[in-house]
Amino acid sequence: MSERIIPIADARYFGGLPEVPLSAIPATGLITDTRGRALHDLRISVTDRCNFRCTYCMPSHLFDKDYAFLPQDALLRFEEIERLVHIFVAHGVEKVRLTGGEPLLRKNLEQLIARLAQIKTPSGRLLDLTLTTNASLLPRKVQALKDAGLKRITVSLDAIDDAIFRQMNDVDFPVSDVLKGIEAADKHGFGPIKINMVVKRGVNDHQVLPMAKHFRGSGHILRFIEFMDVGSSNGWQMQDVLASEDIAALIHQQYPIEVIDPSYTGEVAERWRYCDGQGEIGFISSVTQTFCHDCTRMRLSTEGKLFTCLFATEGQDLRALVRQGYSDEQISSAVALIWQRRGDRYSEIRSEQTPELKAARAKVEMSYIGG
Ligand code: GTP
Ligand code: 5AD
Ligand code: SF4
Ligand code: SF4
Repeated sequence: MSERIIPIADARYFGGLPEVPLSAIPATGLITDTRGRALHDLRISVTDRCNFRCTYCMPSHLFDKDYAFLPQDALLRFEEIERLVHIFVAHGVEKVRLTGGEPLLRKNLEQLIARLAQIKTPSGRLLDLTLTTNASLLPRKVQALKDAGLKRITVSLDAIDDAIFRQMNDVDFPVSDVLKGIEAADKHGFGPIKINMVVKRGVNDHQVLPMAKHFRGSGHILRFIEFMDVGSSNGWQMQDVLASEDIAALIHQQYPIEVIDPSYTGEVAERWRYCDGQGEIGFISSVTQTFCHDCTRMRLSTEGKLFTCLFATEGQDLRALVRQGYSDEQISSAVALIWQRRGDRYSEIRSEQTPELKAARAKVEMSYIGG
């Protein structure tokens, strides 16, 4: 049989090489990219749909009734995802995060979780299996998620004031129902739950202190995320970003805080705690304090394209390899090749030259690639 090659969607990823024989690339083992970064996390988008229309993520004028979401047969099936996760794990992935869109909209998601919860790393440990959700469906689904073996949950919540929250999700969803979701997850043993708040200047920056006040002492970890220029539809401008440093100063005035050590290398959030013992908070500063230098994340889109950066313009079509009958070894070699050729550091470059980048690239949307 003739040598199989990896189909190259974007030659720029591959230094201009049009084709690479897969037998030339190791099929298992730890891999590092061109900047010496190991592969550690895989973020899987299980649906590009969401029941919210957060203005910074899926603005309703674009994601309207005419928007072409992916058809069912385009989505990676659970057995396909499971197969791919085994391959990634052989290359060093220990953490898998399910995202979307809203992952709980994916039918029978607990069946996927049950499959992934069985997978062990080469050193015999179970995966750190986690989920990012808007919590709207948690009260209904949390029992099934727990039973299936999900380990952790992160909830996105941008305001504690009901009117502001309804305005931001743009579907008039009440904050009390999100809080019920968080409570349900807590009752089922998912605490401490991480709460992600994207801060957009002039939209919810005055919610920073009320959010801090609400979650202080709750046992949950509130994390403030700088609004990013992800995708091409959210109208990002630097002046919309409230720097973590400013948010920290605001909180510190009211509730003194101090920095604490990271819990692992390459952690996205900088960890802080309230000096009076009321718990931990975090800052995710991908605009003002970039963290590309130790970025260990790969992203698998809903339809099985593999992206080596949140801000990528193109991914590699793993679904094609899966559905065209490539062997595990061949797909595994393809994954290794993609990672080994990786040089992404978008956040660092963006800080240097955003206007030119903005003009030059049409980035994929976060709801498609996964948050
Ligand atoms: P833990 O496993 O709980 O530590 O998760 P995490 O700290 O990786 O955070 P999470 O997955 O909840 O990501 C939080 C947010 O950080 C995302 O919604 C993004 O806004 C941002 N983020 C995560 N990963 C990246 C990344 O690779 N690049 C950039 N620029 N932002 C990221
Ligand atoms: N900037 C920062 N974070 C974002 N998210 C979505 N869009 C953006 C953006 N433009 C985050 C959400 C959620 C996760 C899915 O991604 O807050 O936590
Ligand atoms: Fe949905 Fe999360 Fe995007 Fe909001 S941020 S539209 S909840 S995927
Ligand atoms: Fe990683 Fe790209 Fe985010 Fe940098 S911008 S941390 S390379 S995903």
